[in-house]
Amino acid sequence: MAQSGGDLLITAAQVLLPDGRCLPRAVEVRRGVIAAVHEQAPPWQGPVLEGRGLTLLPGVIDPQVHFRDPGLTHKEDLVTASRACLRGGVTGFLEMPNTDPQTVDAGSLAAKLARAAAVSRVHHGFFLGACGDGSNLDQLRDPGPACGIKMFMGTGKGPLDCGDPAIQEQIFATGDRLIAVHAEDQQRLQQRRQELLSRWPDDQGRPADLHSDIHDVEAALAATQRAVDLSNRYGRRLHILHLTTGAEADWLRRHRSDRISIEVCPQHLFLDRSAYSHRGNLAQMNPPLRTGHDRQVLWQALLDGVIDCIATDHAPHTLAEKGRPYPHSPSGMPGVETSLPLMLTQVALGRCRLDQVARWMSERPAQLYGIPGKGRIAPGYDADLVLVDLQRSRPVLRQEVVSRCGWSPFEDWELVGWPEATVVAGVVGYERGVFNEACRGRALTFDPAAMVVSPE
Ligand code: DOR
Repeated sequence: MAQSGGDLLITAAQVLLPDGRCLPRAVEVRRGVIAAVHEQAPPWQGPVLEGRGLTLLPGVIDPQVHFRDPGLTHKEDLVTASRACLRGGVTGFLEMPNTDPQTVDAGSLAAKLARAAAVSRVHHGFFLGACGDGSNLDQLRDPGPACGIKMFMGTGKGPLDCGDPAIQEQIFATGDRLIAVHAEDQQRLQQRRQELLSRWPDDQGRPADLHSDIHDVEAALAATQRAVDLSNRYGRRLHILHLTTGAEADWLRRHRSDRISIEVCPQHLFLDRSAYSHRGNLAQMNPPLRTGHDRQVLWQALLDGVIDCIATDHAPHTLAEKGRPYPHSPSGMPGVETSLPLMLTQVALGRCRLDQVARWMSERPAQLYGIPGKGRIAPGYDADLVLVDLQRSRPVLRQEVVSRCGWSPFEDWELVGWPEATVVAGVVGYERGVFNEACRGRALTFDPAAMVVSPE
């Protein structure tokens, strides 16, 4: 719960209620917490946010981002990233450990929390990374204020590469907190990389879509199956990050347990391998873009509840870095500014409902990580909110990107449904292109006892 925050009255908005209905209401916020949801606006002396013609949703919680601070701040830092969050309606994020230094012990975690407390415009949580040589197992036993443990099963993250199955097993055997996995099999990736890159001896001429062939379905499926097996054997809470393949979704439909949750990224729902032809290396990420068929199976799995939530894997790199010839170009793309408009566009197209979007992007992330007081608009919940215009149609424009990387894989896409204002603990942090630079988020808290993994 928010300890202190703003007072605010949001008037006359269509408010998404916990039962899925969207009705005209006034939301009264006291000290950062929703005090009441009124049919008629009450008498009010304090600050007002006019909601007429707009729709009020719970703020997005993005459960997987890479914000580059400390050490890689030429790509992004916690100021630029959290401003980008505000523009995208994201009021809370969970950040990954592959910064410099990497977040692999209590000290580096404390330093990130201190920096975020000082500058982050939105609420924040951080993962503790597992080291591939097993050298920080003692830290993983009790990751303290971290949202969980991140295990890269293989993608070239240096010391964080946990490709060795024996170390993976030790990580699952140590402690009892949530483990989030990037599921790609290291050995398979190495073998594919060697085999396929050698077919293109010219270092300059390799096509970007080779990336999806190297990071193939088999690499993803094998790792996901191993992670599920480890979760079952050790009774361990497992979160599968950014699912990409239809094969994994079909397999998980049959094998997911009530300790396992699953996430998907908008880029894997909306982009496929055809994106390399016009976006080049900007379309390169891990796990990679797949086929149109994979996209369809992922969508269905999301609609059916096999996939629980949406994350962006916001992973900014500069255009200069992305301009290097493949495979010297880094993997990753930004996402926090476009994830909500992309999903609201799907609502406009009739592909899903507004309450489903709020569930995938706000309520479920809060439940899966046991974050109390978040993800709903109801009395007693924190006033982390986004006011959106569901009618507003406009393109994604490079010159408007707030993230330091300065580009988006969705440039020129016409999206319907954009944030007009974002509220963090009752404070308006962003309104129609203007940022409140005084807005600050807080450290999120994670209560394993409050986790809801299988709601039905
Ligand atoms: O494409 C990716 N880039 N996937 C990841 O998991 C890491 C990320 C990064 O940090 O650049």
